Amino acid sequence: MTPPSSTSIPPLRWGILGTGGIAHDFVGDLPLLSSASVTAVGSRRQETADAFGDEFGIAHRHTDAEALADDDTVDAVYVSTPHPMHFDGAMAAIDAGKAVLVEKAFTVNAGQAEQLVRRAREKQVFLMEAMWTRFLPHIVAVRDVLASGRLGDIVTVSADHGQWFPDDPENRLFAPALGGGALLDLGIYPLSFASMILGPPKRMAMIDDPAFTGVDGQISVVLGYDGGAQAVVNTTLRAVSPTVAAIVGRDARLEIDSAWYRPSRFTITDRDGHAEAFEFPHEGHGLRYEAAEVARCVAAGQLESAVMPLDETVQIMGTMDEIRRRGGYSLPGDPDS
Ligand SMILES: NC(=O)c1ccc[n+]([C@@H]2O[C@H](COP(=O)([O-])OP(=O)(O)OC[C@H]3O[C@@H](n4cnc5c(N)ncnc54)[C@H](OP(=O)(O)O)[C@@H]3O)[C@@H](O)[C@H]2O)c1
Repeated sequence: MTPPSSTSIPPLRWGILGTGGIAHDFVGDLPLLSSASVTAVGSRRQETADAFGDEFGIAHRHTDAEALADDDTVDAVYVSTPHPMHFDGAMAAIDAGKAVLVEKAFTVNAGQAEQLVRRAREKQVFLMEAMWTRFLPHIVAVRDVLASGRLGDIVTVSADHGQWFPDDPENRLFAPALGGGALLDLGIYPLSFASMILGPPKRMAMIDDPAFTGVDGQISVVLGYDGGAQAVVNTTLRAVSPTVAAIVGRDARLEIDSAWYRPSRFTITDRDGHAEAFEFPHEGHGLRYEAAEVARCVAAGQLESAVMPLDETVQIMGTMDEIRRRGGYSLPGDPDS
């Protein structure tokens, strides 16, 4: 299978809010999408805005979200701050009438997500969660396989996302004030994957264990769906887990190689054991595919993506709210915080 062509993607001028790790990856991947440009950056400090601007040749440098959102050269704002800051950054862009791509986790909780979605719909602006995995060529192909019915009725979905981090209270992943924890950073990938395949869960069982700062350090969740299908999800900040995913159907199973949430490949094994492997040639990081989706939707006048719908983003935030409620993990921006 070959990846979709990126030659016909409409132009879009990006403004980047936040100059951290993923902002570097996102802007670094955009040159592979020839129609995209970055015209402005927003940072908390002039020095960091200038450093990012110098590194990537970005002309307009701002020191707050509102100024970035009001920049006339910007068509779409990419919100790449820590999760608790997504709400204000995205709201400023929506209020300025800009299209908005918000990093995962979209917000801290479903209540914030609902507010952003409501405001975007009022203002008639495009809004999307930056769940980049959904737009990667191998996941596009997974959806094609599912639509073809080759796997038969889906019985089980399993996926994990674990990474190792040293015990550092300054690390965003461990910092309660920055929305730390495995769930919203890593666990969201397998939860979103399960949602893409099986829809909203009807039942849930979970076991959790806190990290040394009190944020969630490891969580395993089993989700139950109408019709009897189940999803098994693990996420941890303590170890590099296999990061593999499987979709198990009555007729065949599809297994995505590590790291399944990045550009990868998969194998389909029929019930009789016959296996077929699928490769997806790629270059770069892979973040440009979500940027291409924003450009396509904006050019077509769509207010959301059919691949990552806003109601589904809110639903996934609600699932994570319930997991955090059961585990007793609250975050800044929660009603009880
Ligand atoms: N799609 C992916 O593969 C992926 C990967 C990693 C992270 N993410 C998501 O992207 C977001 C950012 O993650 P990251 O790893 O890029 O984080 P990071 O390296 O810590 O960068 C976050 C940036 O946000 C800005 N910021 C605003 N308020 C801040 C505050 N109070 N404390 C710290 N930084 C603040 C800072 O930029 P300024 O100094 O310029 O203001 C900072 O550099 C998170 O929501 C995360 O889940 C996505």
